[in-house]
Amino acid sequence: MRPDGRKSDWLIDFWGTMKLSNRKLPLLDTLVPVATLVIAITTAASPAAGQGNAAGADVYKAKCATCHGQDGSGNTPVGKSLQVADLRSAAVQSKSDAELIQSVTEGKGNMPGFKGNITDDEIHAVVTFIRTFAGKGDSAPKKK
Ligand code: HEC
Repeated sequence: MRPDGRKSDWLIDFWGTMKLSNRKLPLLDTLVPVATLVIAITTAASPAAGQGNAAGADVYKAKCATCHGQDGSGNTPVGKSLQVADLRSAAVQSKSDAELIQSVTEGKGNMPGFKGNITDDEIHAVVTFIRTFAGKGDSAPKKK
C-alpha cells in the first residue's frame, strides 16, 4: 500500500507480466516438449550415459559372462574351474572403481587383462555395469 491509499502498482505490473507471459506460452508449449524429446533421444542414443548403461551390459555379455556368468556369480563351468571372483560379493563390490578398472585392464590371477581388447571407455562402462550386481547374490549382503 502506498501512503495515498491507492493500491500499489505492483498488481498492475503483475497482470501486465502475466499477459505477456501468456502470450509467450504457446511458444513455450511447443518448445518444452520438443526439448524434452531431444534430451530423451540423445540420452538413449549415447551409450555410456544414463542408468541403462547398455554399452556396459553388452561388453559384459560378450567378454565377461563366459567366466563370470550372466548374474556375476561365477557359477559357470569355466568360472568354477578358474575360481573366478563372485562379482556380487562384498569382497569385490567394496573395491573402488579404480581398483576394479585396474584388475580388468591389467588382469588378475586367472583373469586376462582386457587392455587393447576393449577400449578404456568400455572398461569403464563394464565396471559401472558390474555395480548392478551388488547385493544380488546369497553371499553379497554380508555385514561389514
Ligand atoms: C577367462 C575368464 C575370465 C574372463 C573372460 C573375465 N574374468 Fe574377471 N575374473 C576372472 C578370475 C579367475 C578372477 C579372480 C582373479 C583373482 O582374484 O585371482 C576374476 C576377477 C574379476 C574381478 C575382481 C577383481 C578384483 O580386483 O578383485 C572383476 C571386477 C572382474 N573379474 C571383472 C571382469 C570383467 C568386467 C570382465 C569382462 C571385461 C571379466 N572379468 C572377464 C576370470 C575372468
